[in-house]
Amino acid sequence: MHMASSYHFSLLLFSLLFLSPCLAQTSFRPKALLLPVQKDPSTLQYITQLNQRTPLVPVHLTLDLGGQFLWVDCDQGYFSSTTYRPSRCGSASCSLPGSTFCTTERYSAARPGSNNNTCGLFPNNPVISTSTGGDLGSDVVSVQSTDGKNPGRVVSVPQLLFVCGPTFLLEGLASGVKGMAGLGRTKVSLPAQFSAAFSFPRKFAVCLSSSTRSNGVIFFGNGPYMLLPNIDASASLIYTPLIVNPVSTAGASFKGDASSDYFIGVKSIKIGGKTVPNINSSLLSIHQGNGGTKISTVNPYTVLETSIYKAVTEFFIKELSGVPRVAAVAPFGLCFNSKNIGPTRVGPAVPSIDLVLQSESVFWSIYGANSMVQVSDEVLCLGFVDGGLNPRTSIVIGGYQIEDNLLQFDLGASRLGFSASLLFRRTTCANFNFTSNA
Ligand SMILES: *[C@@H]1O[C@H](CO)[C@@H](O)[C@H](O)[C@H]1NC(C)=O
Ligand SMILES: *[C@@H]1O[C@H](CO)[C@@H](O)[C@H](O)[C@H]1NC(C)=O
Ligand SMILES: *[C@@H]1O[C@H](CO)[C@@H](O)[C@H](O)[C@H]1NC(C)=O
Repeated sequence: MHMASSYHFSLLLFSLLFLSPCLAQTSFRPKALLLPVQKDPSTLQYITQLNQRTPLVPVHLTLDLGGQFLWVDCDQGYFSSTTYRPSRCGSASCSLPGSTFCTTERYSAARPGSNNNTCGLFPNNPVISTSTGGDLGSDVVSVQSTDGKNPGRVVSVPQLLFVCGPTFLLEGLASGVKGMAGLGRTKVSLPAQFSAAFSFPRKFAVCLSSSTRSNGVIFFGNGPYMLLPNIDASASLIYTPLIVNPVSTAGASFKGDASSDYFIGVKSIKIGGKTVPNINSSLLSIHQGNGGTKISTVNPYTVLETSIYKAVTEFFIKELSGVPRVAAVAPFGLCFNSKNIGPTRVGPAVPSIDLVLQSESVFWSIYGANSMVQVSDEVLCLGFVDGGLNPRTSIVIGGYQIEDNLLQFDLGASRLGFSASLLFRRTTCANFNFTSNA
């Protein structure tokens, strides 16, 4: 009898604590979040979408892996959000990103992007290499959580910091896009703010689809990162250290800011298992902010400094001897008759291009699906472009080269985990199951 009543009592307590929908709503803490990513066929940009403001509005954004923060155009269509809060000069939200400039004279009516006594940052559009000043502020953002297999319940970040940019900064971005989603190495990038909001590990993973018709995905938080049919792309990653470039690579920044781009330490390049000769190794390391290798989702194809480009293309021609070359098709400089190149599971049968990392046994292999671009029925081009002499960064690994590879950025451990081509595992980045189970 006594047992029964205490059982009832604890059942009552249990239902009060856990079954009240209101309590459950506020106490739900996601382990991971996700964003869908679509490849825009005309600009080759990767587009994601966030729901922001009150009332919620879907905002399309170009993905900028190394971008410092989220910025959106506030000049058009951002007047009515009731939850927008400007970041007041001297507040904690201004010191978090290290903003040291403050706008104190504003004569237009207060609105997002134009408030007196508001601190600012420099939103950057790397597609047109343009930066400008913009107000820092915050607003509510809602995102889907995930268990790694499907999208789950929608969760909100009530005060996600972002920067208001002017309309002209949208130039060069895909049609319909209203800003850029920065995932870079800062305290106010989307991954940093999502991890802080929900206390999950400072990790995120990017899986870009090679198809413009089916979405890829970005996961924030730990794996599993499941792709159909039941493949955990977070299993068996290869790791390499992420390298900090101490000098900002953004168009404008505060003095002393490190780069928000993700750099890795490529030591040499192999093609078909043989080291490409005549690569000036000095270009592969970072000197006073110059040189080195970074990963970018804004460059559609990998960009190589001229002498590296020459060394790689000449060696590639040698390793692919017997296949007739055809006239180059811009932006590429090396194209072949595709009738002479057979297919494999990982794309056209060409020698793999290996980026050798911290040791000879750790390398990132780029197979045909990520190295060769079909520009017409009969023409396949090497998907690398000449970056000219003296570019800021010697090697910029572009979007095409990371499609259908999962890249996990572990900011706590400062390392990159990469899966190599998922085609080997008979899946792709378009295989996340977007059917919600919430
Ligand atoms: C803007 O704020 C500053 C500091 O609070 C104040 O001195 C100034 O008068 C304000 N300007 C306008 C136009 O309201
Ligand atoms: C290698 O690159 C560095 C940095 O750009 C340059 O100073 C040096 O002259 C180059 N060496 C050769 C042999 O080209
Ligand atoms: C996708 O997920 C939904 C919801 O969990 C499930 O019903 C469906 O079977 C999954 N699709 C496949 C192809 O596994």
